Amino acid sequence: MPSMYFPQYRKARKGVELFDGTVLEHAYRLGVEIPADCGGLGTCGRCVVRIEQGAAVLATKTRLELEHELGPDERLACQARVTSQAENVVVYVKEMGAYSIVTETVETEEVTLDPLVRREGRKVVHDSGEALGRYQGEVYGLAVDVGTTTLAMQIVDMEDGRIIATAARTNPQTSFGNDVISRIAYTMRHEDGLELLQKAVIGRINEELNRLEGQRGVLRKNIFDVTVVGNSTMRGIFFGQDVRSLGVIPFEPVDCAAVECKAGELGLAVNPSAHVYGGALIGGHAGADALADVLASRMHESDGVSMVIDIGTNGEVVIGNKSKMMSASCAAGGAYEGATISCGVGAVDGAISNVWITDGHVTYETIGGKRPVGVCGSGLIDLLAELLRSGRMTKKAKIKDPYCISGDICINQQDIYELITAKAGLRLDQDLLMRYYGVELDEVQRIFLAGGFGNFVNAENAVTIGLLPPAPEKVVRIGNGALAGAREMLISATIRRESEQLARMIEHKKPNELEPDFPYMVAGEMYF
Ligand code: FES
Repeated sequence: MPSMYFPQYRKARKGVELFDGTVLEHAYRLGVEIPADCGGLGTCGRCVVRIEQGAAVLATKTRLELEHELGPDERLACQARVTSQAENVVVYVKEMGAYSIVTETVETEEVTLDPLVRREGRKVVHDSGEALGRYQGEVYGLAVDVGTTTLAMQIVDMEDGRIIATAARTNPQTSFGNDVISRIAYTMRHEDGLELLQKAVIGRINEELNRLEGQRGVLRKNIFDVTVVGNSTMRGIFFGQDVRSLGVIPFEPVDCAAVECKAGELGLAVNPSAHVYGGALIGGHAGADALADVLASRMHESDGVSMVIDIGTNGEVVIGNKSKMMSASCAAGGAYEGATISCGVGAVDGAISNVWITDGHVTYETIGGKRPVGVCGSGLIDLLAELLRSGRMTKKAKIKDPYCISGDICINQQDIYELITAKAGLRLDQDLLMRYYGVELDEVQRIFLAGGFGNFVNAENAVTIGLLPPAPEKVVRIGNGALAGAREMLISATIRRESEQLARMIEHKKPNELEPDFPYMVAGEMYF
């Protein structure tokens, strides 16, 4: 039976038998990730592949494909559909790379160990008295941060709190769309969409757990407790909950409460008796990840007012102190993940992560020191700041000609428009939250930057372009705060309970509903 092969990927060399479906769907069956920011609508142009062999078994180019500048052998994977089974198809993916993902977490004060699982003689038992399994030398727990673009996880020894292993992978749901809205839309358009997305993320975590077992000897059956955080959509999909309400007015989850079920019910490859706990959601798109950021920053314990900003594909901001807190979220979109930018890429090997323009000359650094393949979020912030400083871009965000950093890696006017639109929403949330809260910037003691992306940002440059308020000296990077918070929920039942109270206490604000002039306010942020 003729098959489709993706020779760039070792796991996909065995191929998959041809069926009536797109190249993207064939890739998915083999676990090959092709960037698909628009969720397969044929508009983003990120899923370009080269058909090395077997082009004749594919339907002719669609109208959408003709609108993109494709080479003669190139197709959009989401549009090219198999129509016959006459011969094998060999496919090369144009944009591939391993994400360089932040897994380091903030150094917080010691958390008192107070886990919900413990050894009792020859058994491991849950706090409720339930016997979970036989004690075989270890009692482990797993903390997971399900990000829109990346998954990060940590295995922790529940008897002494040591971190045994940390790992990160891309979220394979990126093949269904770059941002939360396109994933929600996927679940609306396809009857089995929710199930597919859930299987994709759990499958990827299982792959990583298998790898850790094979390479590091961390036995999956000894993992007896799991905590999961993520924005409202990501947490919802992980637990197989209906997320459609997050895609329509008033953009609220069905239920903000913490969730819990058994690992066996989810198909998560740990001890099947393990409890899997999903942190509470704050409200709207501000989810358990923002809550975990707050835990990691400790801002909820201080008298002084602080702000935590999680700059991911989904932007979340929380302001407050121990007596009052407020949050807001915005679709930062894929711009700072490189998705909607012509020269943009995720934080993959070869991504330009830092840029300097000195005396008219541009210099840059790439992730892993590799040959440049595009510019990732931190590089894009640097680039905007340097274009502004060097006078190549006006304060109204206008450039005369595209500016090239290396070869054909160039930024154009449309890219700049996308970037300032994304920064406008995030900055407006910060300013409005300060106003709603009743504080001025000089009363805010610290600004915590969280998220894989936030960790790489040059704070001075982020201030220069107006992504952050003018107080770079207050910026504290907390790395993957969401993962650190998930770990705290894992090893401490007290923190878990506190986090649920905290989620109820944080008042979620929706500036776009509260401000009749919201569109004009966004427009007001769209220059420097
Ligand atoms: Fe194919 Fe966007 S164009 S996924």
